[in-house]
Amino acid sequence: MNFKEEIKRRRTFGIISHPDAGKTTLTEKLLLFGGAIQVAGAVKSNKIKRTATSDFMEIEKQRGISVATSVMGFEYRDLKINILDTPGHQDFAEDTYRTLTAVDSVIVVIDVAKGVEPQTEKLVEVCRMRQTPIIVFINKLDREGRDGFDLLDEIEEKLSLTVRPLSWPIGMGQRFKGVYNLYEQKLILFRPHGKQAEEDVIEITDLSSAELDKQVGEAAANELRDEVKIIREVYPAFDRQAYLQGHLSPVFFGSAINNFGVKELLDCFVEIAPHPLPRFTEERQVDPAEDQFAGFVFKIHANMDPKHRDRIAFLRICSGKFARNTNYLHVRQNRKMKFSNPTSFMAARKEVIEEAFPGDVVGLYDSGNFKIGDTLTEGEVLHFKGIPSFSPEQFRYVNNADPLKQKQLAKGLEQLMDEGVAQLFTREVNGRKIIGTVGALQFDVIQYRLEHEYGASVQYEPVNLYKACWVQCKNEAALKEFLKRRNRDMAKDIDGHWVFLAESAWALKMAQENHPEVEFHFTSEF
Ligand code: G4P
Repeated sequence: MNFKEEIKRRRTFGIISHPDAGKTTLTEKLLLFGGAIQVAGAVKSNKIKRTATSDFMEIEKQRGISVATSVMGFEYRDLKINILDTPGHQDFAEDTYRTLTAVDSVIVVIDVAKGVEPQTEKLVEVCRMRQTPIIVFINKLDREGRDGFDLLDEIEEKLSLTVRPLSWPIGMGQRFKGVYNLYEQKLILFRPHGKQAEEDVIEITDLSSAELDKQVGEAAANELRDEVKIIREVYPAFDRQAYLQGHLSPVFFGSAINNFGVKELLDCFVEIAPHPLPRFTEERQVDPAEDQFAGFVFKIHANMDPKHRDRIAFLRICSGKFARNTNYLHVRQNRKMKFSNPTSFMAARKEVIEEAFPGDVVGLYDSGNFKIGDTLTEGEVLHFKGIPSFSPEQFRYVNNADPLKQKQLAKGLEQLMDEGVAQLFTREVNGRKIIGTVGALQFDVIQYRLEHEYGASVQYEPVNLYKACWVQCKNEAALKEFLKRRNRDMAKDIDGHWVFLAESAWALKMAQENHPEVEFHFTSEF
């Protein structure tokens, strides 16, 4: 197979949902179709959501498990599919945001009874920002849930997506009879526990056919006819181009646990989902089919074993062919590096690979050289865009609790920040360090890891802050004036960029009003 064909056959995507909607179950069923796993229950994934927020030891354990499921590759219908796992726990939302920079499309799972939940809203917003193509899977139709049209309205309203159902449920819960696949014009009868047989898939191109009544009963058949009529009148026809541009989201219904509607979803996904797309760098657009290799690190995973402080950096290949034992330029450090054990992930199996193609993710063993967002190339200086840090929402002063371990603390903090666990700000007035995170859980994780991996100990102290935002100003004099006036509220991030620490929403609003020339940014990339 030539290089271009290798690119064309790749589909790299993420599954996102609010915890408990069925992401893990769906992932597992997809892997079963791909033959990547043989039995259900093989994917433990990042299932840390049911633990109490204080139980971070459990989370640490799960973190170990989740390395194996960070990337799950499998072959299906001659295609190479890469599923990138996203943590379900909201305190790790930033990990998920970053993983979304490495996918070409996403599937959003929604619980039919719960509808659009907060975590889904946040994650879809990140996808929309990047115009990532989105397919929606409404799950748990074997249970009673909300009316299909109500759900579509809610998705359009809360997620700002234009939707087009490609399958439609016939009843739900006890009355669930199956779905009508509008894409392939087939009726698929529901059998619990994945006991689907070939004869349960019936081609019905004309819904007025008496076959429909025979299969699902007259009342359900008429209901389906009415509903499909509404769908055809109200929703735009499916247009692949609109989907690829992130303007139209097809919707499927099913029940992941019963393996129902999953194959239809996968079959449609492989037909319509994009192959690896061009990516943007500060310098230029990078096309996957370029000869020269380029890729970026979107996730760093620390080793759980304190005796081995190595980490795995996950690299998304954006162009060219990546090869083992070849010298590449680490752009930020301006030095050559080669990798003797690049790892690929096929579900729970890990193996050393010789080469990888655009769309693939390889794991690189790292002893502390990488930081999230780092670029590797064959020599060109490129900086991939779209891997921002987000404004943290929880803050604490961090104090050294053991003066003899100052060095260890500095090193530990630096490495944890490189991994993207949290963000570190240094106050301009007094040099005090503040850790900012998206979720409260990270404070425990940081304290624990500093102690166990670096032998350093810290104490936290509350600090009353509402938000940290990056500031920028084209007018030198105005910036100087702002920095002077707000000196008390200024800090620098780890890269030396100015950050405004707002004590309240009101303080932020006042600063924005009083300094109209200063731009306040809520992500580190602007
Ligand atoms: P998540 O990764 O999005 O957090 O969700 P996960 O797949 O773990 O699913 C959450 C719960 O919903 C699980 O039940 C799972 O079995 C159930 N579930 C998933 N798909 C369906 C479905 O189609 N129908 C029904 N009725 N349930 C579904 P649990 O009891 O919380 O966990 P477990 O003991 O089954 O693992």
